[in-house]
Amino acid sequence: MKSLQEMWEDLEEYLQVENALEQGFSNGKYTKVLASFAKNVTAIDVSKEFMEIAKENLKDYNNIRLLLMDAEHMQFEDKSFDVLLNTSFHEFDLSGAVYSIDLELKRRILQEMIRVSNTIVFVEPTESAITNELFKVFNPNENHSDRIQKSNELIAEVMRENGYSLLESGLTFNEDQFESQKELEEEMLDWWADIKVPANLEEKEEMIHQIDEILEKAGMLQNLKVVEDIGYKVYRKEF
Ligand SMILES: C[S@@+](CC[C@H](N)C(=O)[O-])C[C@H]1O[C@@H](n2cnc3c(N)ncnc32)[C@H](O)[C@@H]1O
Repeated sequence: MKSLQEMWEDLEEYLQVENALEQGFSNGKYTKVLASFAKNVTAIDVSKEFMEIAKENLKDYNNIRLLLMDAEHMQFEDKSFDVLLNTSFHEFDLSGAVYSIDLELKRRILQEMIRVSNTIVFVEPTESAITNELFKVFNPNENHSDRIQKSNELIAEVMRENGYSLLESGLTFNEDQFESQKELEEEMLDWWADIKVPANLEEKEEMIHQIDEILEKAGMLQNLKVVEDIGYKVYRKEF
């Protein structure tokens, strides 16, 4: 498995372009990285809250344009970007409902992506990432891993149908190191607070117990380091 640094080195040749588009900028974490490679970055998101957060986080960058725009209906000319970066975005229902899958919607968004760029880079947690297990603490009926798998299959299918080839594919990981078990547990509870917030102390303790069990089994509680596996893929349409 490669380090995040090595992943960006692999992706560099595709991201060093004149005009790049990022979908789902959220807090701007990946937008910053993209802006270090591309001359001009346009980044879209549907969330007004994230727009405020990203504006603040990216205020020192003069090559980033942030827009509130729906990925399903992008107001850009055909093939107006040299590359499109899509990070931790496509496995979700992008219509506003959190964490559900709608493969038809996804297909429409993929068609839109293809319309605006001949090079598309996907970076996202894998089917085996620890977050899939942790997610069950917040919604036991949800199979995050299955959703990622279905979504990846759809991406491969749509890319193939439209004449895009897989040029690059690899695995990396993100590491979050915590100072104390308490800090780690509070952070984990916060990650999916939009899905479920414990109703009382008893429920909170039970959720923390489940989180600890999952992390302990994965060997992550012992060293207070949450490691998430991430996959990356580059598709390109060659003429
Ligand atoms: C899971 S977050 C990923 C954020 C970031 N790219 C990362 O990897 O850390 C998904 C992002 O996509 C945005 N989003 C959801 N639906 C969207 C849509 N239809 N069009 C544009 N952005 C959307 C969300 O607001 C959110 O910021």
